[in-house]
Amino acid sequence: MMATFPKDFLWGGATADFQYDGGYDEDGRGLLSHDFVTAGSATRPRQLTLKLKNGGRGSVNAHDSLPEGAEPALYDDVYYPSHQATDFYHHWQEDIDLMAEMGFSTYRFSICWSRIYPTGEEAQPNPAGLHFYDQVIDRLIEKKIEPIITICHDELPNYLGEHYDGWSSRHTIDCYVKYAKTLIDRYRGKVRYWITFNEINILSGYIALGTHQQDAQTRYQAIHHMFVANALAIQAGRKIDPAAKFGTMYALSENYPATCKPQDVFASYQTRRNNGLFYVDVMARGYYPSYTAAKFAQENVKLEFDPADLELLKNNTLDFIAFSYYRSAIVKVDDQDQVIFSNDNPYLKSTPWGWTIDPLGLRYCLNELFDRYQKPLIVIENGLGAVDELTADGKVHDDYRINYLRDHLREIRNAITIDRIPCFGYTMWGNTDLVSLSTGEMKKRYGFVYVDMDDQGHGSLNRIKKDSFDWFKKTITTAGVDL
Ligand code: BG6
Repeated sequence: MMATFPKDFLWGGATADFQYDGGYDEDGRGLLSHDFVTAGSATRPRQLTLKLKNGGRGSVNAHDSLPEGAEPALYDDVYYPSHQATDFYHHWQEDIDLMAEMGFSTYRFSICWSRIYPTGEEAQPNPAGLHFYDQVIDRLIEKKIEPIITICHDELPNYLGEHYDGWSSRHTIDCYVKYAKTLIDRYRGKVRYWITFNEINILSGYIALGTHQQDAQTRYQAIHHMFVANALAIQAGRKIDPAAKFGTMYALSENYPATCKPQDVFASYQTRRNNGLFYVDVMARGYYPSYTAAKFAQENVKLEFDPADLELLKNNTLDFIAFSYYRSAIVKVDDQDQVIFSNDNPYLKSTPWGWTIDPLGLRYCLNELFDRYQKPLIVIENGLGAVDELTADGKVHDDYRINYLRDHLREIRNAITIDRIPCFGYTMWGNTDLVSLSTGEMKKRYGFVYVDMDDQGHGSLNRIKKDSFDWFKKTITTAGVDL
């Protein structure tokens, strides 16, 4: 018998609001920290534009500390990709219809925090913001597409960054929990899977954490507050809707030792744990693991806890683990004992952005996670960022994307059918083209659907099906039997 995916496997796509929605100043939406970030490129980092203490104008790399007294500011002559993004805000019906045409059984998207609570601090949510998502969710359900919602995708109402130093402050925990409760309550019975945070293990900088300083102490204290916020949201969410399931999303592209030299092997193991699994350990097992002491001593971090924090973490662990997987890296230790990461794996090809292509790494990752946590898993992001060409026949022939996706889906199928890993879904990243997170470019495209827009936001915004659209449709219809 041919190996197929389980009948109830969730097939779909995934997006994030500030990369996709646009409508940044419509219907009462507040500003996000992301709204102050310029476009960049593979070689030119994105910048956060600032008003300086002396009233002048400035900018910093979006992941650097802010100069003393500087605050985010918008300038008319600068292009900010999140403002229009690829305009799901005005194309949601058409885009959902295209998802339905492909046969999606799920769509994972993020709700924009500042569309619901514009500053984060309001006592009542913004009705127009909720109305937008009511329509989206109802249309998805009508089309038999199960919504999976990310409550917070690497973002923060800018007000909380400016006035409270973002996640440095426990006040942000309260704002987040109020926001999460609003959503879970409103969509009770309509939404089964909630993702509390996106890629919590790689968040840094003002844009994701709202902190003005970016040292390890500030960052880990902020992350601890997010762990607490996650636990409180789960605790409240289970009371509001006992049928709901809660997960967090982690960036878990693999890493391997560069050689079989024991130092390289151990460095690879340790970096995997420190940069990725540490976060899952705390949230899925419910406690800071034993190696935390060494990790924090090395980085000079001393966390402040509230008395109830540890009990909360213990009693409110995740139901499932969601993760993104795009590539793998290699790790080695140099003569000065420095740990070096690189993409130079001689056995793998890379994308034009230097991301290696490693389908087997995804099967490895699924096995690694299930061995360690025994929780259901979902591949919530995977895909190929590539330059797509709209040809004279008005089509996009993206066989390179089909190859990438087919090879990765085969490995998921192997993990499910051979290794017996309970992986319950796959959502391809950026099913409709959207703005790249790392570079802010448009030309790094992932979608099954091409959006006519360039790196400066110009274009008709028309939607065009790529060749991969029909291929994915067939893959879903046949439960992956032809992969
Ligand atoms: C993940 C993020 O890190 O990778 C997405 O959750 C992001 O928001 C995706 O878009 C791909 O990265 P990039 O930089 O190619 O957009």
